[in-house]
Amino acid sequence: MLFDRVKSLDAILATAEKKGLHRSLGAFQLTMLGVGAVIGTGIFVLTAVAAQKAGPGMMLSFCIAGFVCAVAALCYSELASMVPVAGSAYTYTYAVMGELLAWMVGWALVLEYALGASAVAVGWSNHLVGALADSGVHFPALISNADGLMAKVALAFGSTATPDLLAAAQNGGFINVPAIVVVMAVTALLIKGTTESAMVNAVLVVVKLIALTAFMVLTLPAIKASNFHPFTPTGFGNLTSGTGYVGAAASIFFAYVGFDAVSTAAEETKNPQRNVPIGLIGSLLICTVIYLLVAAGAIGTVGAQPVTSAAGAFLAPGSPEMAGRCAAIVASGVTEPLVCSKHALVHVLQTINYPVVGWLVGLAAIIALPSVVLMMMFGQTRVFFTMARDGLLPASFAKVHPKFKTPYVVTAVTGLFALIFAGLLPVGSLADYSNSGTLFAFAMVALAVLILRVKDPSRKRSFRTPAVWIVAPAAIIGCIVLYAALDTTSKLVLVGWGGIGLVVYFLYSRSRSHVGRGLTEVHELDEDTPPLPVPPMPGAHTPGGKDA
Ligand code: ALA
Repeated sequence: MLFDRVKSLDAILATAEKKGLHRSLGAFQLTMLGVGAVIGTGIFVLTAVAAQKAGPGMMLSFCIAGFVCAVAALCYSELASMVPVAGSAYTYTYAVMGELLAWMVGWALVLEYALGASAVAVGWSNHLVGALADSGVHFPALISNADGLMAKVALAFGSTATPDLLAAAQNGGFINVPAIVVVMAVTALLIKGTTESAMVNAVLVVVKLIALTAFMVLTLPAIKASNFHPFTPTGFGNLTSGTGYVGAAASIFFAYVGFDAVSTAAEETKNPQRNVPIGLIGSLLICTVIYLLVAAGAIGTVGAQPVTSAAGAFLAPGSPEMAGRCAAIVASGVTEPLVCSKHALVHVLQTINYPVVGWLVGLAAIIALPSVVLMMMFGQTRVFFTMARDGLLPASFAKVHPKFKTPYVVTAVTGLFALIFAGLLPVGSLADYSNSGTLFAFAMVALAVLILRVKDPSRKRSFRTPAVWIVAPAAIIGCIVLYAALDTTSKLVLVGWGGIGLVVYFLYSRSRSHVGRGLTEVHELDEDTPPLPVPPMPGAHTPGGKDA
């Protein structure tokens, strides 16, 4: 049987209790942790991507993506308050749907967290290069993006040599060095250990909130209703190109990702049963309101209509063709459209004549975005760490540094993965690939809530998802719709990555799984301690058949 290896909830909870992590976070800190993890490249940069896909209709996209995250957060809350342990969606799935699906979720979380970290790093790089240019320092294009390399690859693989693509191949860069550098710096910080992270995070959240408040104060009073027409120039959506306002929702979904980081901190939370749901839902609400106001300010002041190719065709955001087209528009002396900007909010402020505030907002992004990279990479190391502890990844992954006491191997692997992609791909594509993995994980969590309600109805639930038979199916359907609305490449990334994951699982992980081998891990003192064979706990699911 493929789905028989379930890690019992009792065993998971017993492990967490024995580990005895210090519980120090309260509801306010947790909400701040959520807001800190959520506000980032999505709103600062991807607003331009969403506008290219949907025009002013991106307001609807923010609502759709926010709704899907809200229903998913309600499901997360029930599981996080029942199973307050590290590993998030991966751990929940292990307890409810078994090892194979848990493995697939953990594998998909690599897309969410590691590629998500890459996307935020590229957003950071865009702001740094922009702020330097505004200060008169021109960072060489050759090493500030990979548009040129990607255009050459597209041409080599037979893409039509349109003038836009040729222009990108000629003028675009080869590698994004600032993005690589920020990933390396964050990796080093994580290996060294970040003890004051809650404090630093609080300061950075305030920096981001001040920047976004300044943006709203300056743009909202200057809104012109005419900029909202036509409201949905690309319509509802197109299932292959990812355009339309549902397609934009699938991309801008990235702006909300990160709230689940709150659930990964459940083990370090005081009274998690009360505080985790407050942290998850509170941070999501705050962010949704801010995003809608910021989007309205951007659209209403400078307009947000998509640009098309010279022949009038849709251009995918982040594509080399789009880069070439935008370069041609700017070269013709016209003000750069919002959809072409690599640092959307700064661009809006500069266009409406607030260059200094624009520069400061850019500075806020430069200061604060690395903390989002850090949160995402931290989430990734936690998931890898938990998977290694369960025997599904090499034990060396869970090695703790003798001096810094951090899981340095897993952190270095995560950093390497993230920096390769940060160096080579545009922010919009990275965000879309990340979203494909996240949507899969969210759908699994919602399914797990339903299954657990049926299989284990009497277990204590400190937070019960309200109207669960409506909310959880809505989350699942919402995730499927957003996934379907991604462009074809992003959809295939999940399929391809999942395929590699299955091969790794059956060739490596299945035979080494601790649950499969009848081992239950006990980590009282040292997380490196190899698992001890213990008899099954009363009421625990007996591990299923041996390795296939
Ligand atoms: N939501 C985070 C961001 O937008 C990942 O950067």
